[in-house]
Amino acid sequence: MTPAEWPYPRWIAHRGAGKLAPENTLAAFRLGAQCGYRAFECDVKLSRDNQVFLLHDDTLDRTTHASGDAAVRAWSELSQLDAGGWHSRAFAGEPLASLAAIAAFCLRNRFALNIEIKPSPGRERETGERVAREAAKLWAGQTVAPLLSSFAPESLAGAMSGAAALPRALLLDTLWAGWFERVQALECVAVVANHKLFDRALVERLHASGLRALAYTVNDEKTAQSLLGLGLDGLITDAVDRFSP
Ligand code: G3P
Ligand code: MG
Repeated sequence: MTPAEWPYPRWIAHRGAGKLAPENTLAAFRLGAQCGYRAFECDVKLSRDNQVFLLHDDTLDRTTHASGDAAVRAWSELSQLDAGGWHSRAFAGEPLASLAAIAAFCLRNRFALNIEIKPSPGRERETGERVAREAAKLWAGQTVAPLLSSFAPESLAGAMSGAAALPRALLLDTLWAGWFERVQALECVAVVANHKLFDRALVERLHASGLRALAYTVNDEKTAQSLLGLGLDGLITDAVDRFSP
């Protein structure tokens, strides 16, 4: 993919609909879509039996009514959990979403997806590899592939071996030593960085190297304007009710 071929909308709804609905559920995607969003970010990991499903944390405590590590449960158990009631009564009973269910929703509506690979500890490479394989299968024959991103370079290495053709992006919360070389070695098409890291020099460096520059998580107008002024290619936001794409 060359920069000229970048197919993703500039505004991307974080975890489906930010904080307005239970994050990383189909209900959140539906709400984000109602707000006019055509591109979404979500976090994925593996169940014990290697189903790819949406969850941000290592544990189930914050976003379901269960507790403990998600990685030790089979999908048959995970799919029965309430992943909505913690948010508000209106969403009680909302289930965890499989990547397959989210893919069906996005493909039917022609929405773009940024899949953040969020491996359970110790499963970094395997998660990248399995997520990429599953995504390649789900999006087979589609013109716009999902963008695979991760803070974990090992997960992106796994994604590269699982489905090399799917575009990759390194997530950065700091500009750690050697990040740029990693981006190149992993043949990334983009960097998705904490919005606080961006200045003109960083955007120019990325663009000059043929990379796209995306920022997370951009929730106020002033920050959004300044990033757009710098030429950012994508903004990931929770504020889907305030920023209209
Ligand atoms: O992918 C961008 C953003 O989601 C990274 O941070 O913790 O919200 O997954 P986090
Ligand atoms: Mg994320």
